[in-house]
Amino acid sequence: LPLLVLNGPNLNLLGTREPEIYGSDTLDDVRSRTEARAAGHGLAVDFRQSNHEGELVDWIQEARTSHAGILINPAAYSHTSVAIRDALSAVGRPIVEVHISNIHRREPFRHHSHVSAVADAVIAGAGVLGYELGVDWLAAAVRR
Ligand code: DQA
Repeated sequence: LPLLVLNGPNLNLLGTREPEIYGSDTLDDVRSRTEARAAGHGLAVDFRQSNHEGELVDWIQEARTSHAGILINPAAYSHTSVAIRDALSAVGRPIVEVHISNIHRREPFRHHSHVSAVADAVIAGAGVLGYELGVDWLAAAVRR
């Protein structure tokens, strides 16, 4: 089964949105790097982005049967969404939460993520490299 890589709101603007915080790579660059890293582990990637909370919930539910593990950057929904947290909690697959920036060094409202309590691993502040590190972790987790 492929890995599911989910990106939340505004990550479609990656590369042009606040590059001093999020870097200059686009989401398409991140997709290529993530796919290449997964291919090195013999894994395929289903890479998606949505600005809509309910669509992300639908996709997380799909992973219960269709994906080996989930890498998610819930973006702003990290800090607000009990629905995404509950969907992840029901998924029964390894979950890694990735933030490009170090949310703990930023505004206080970013310090808490509802997702972290249900994620198995959390990566923040490693830039877009966090996606590749997350794939490495997931590859080991799905092998277990
Ligand atoms: C983010 C951090 C969030 O606080 C923010 O809302 C994002 C991106 C990150 O990748 O650093 O949109 O998840």
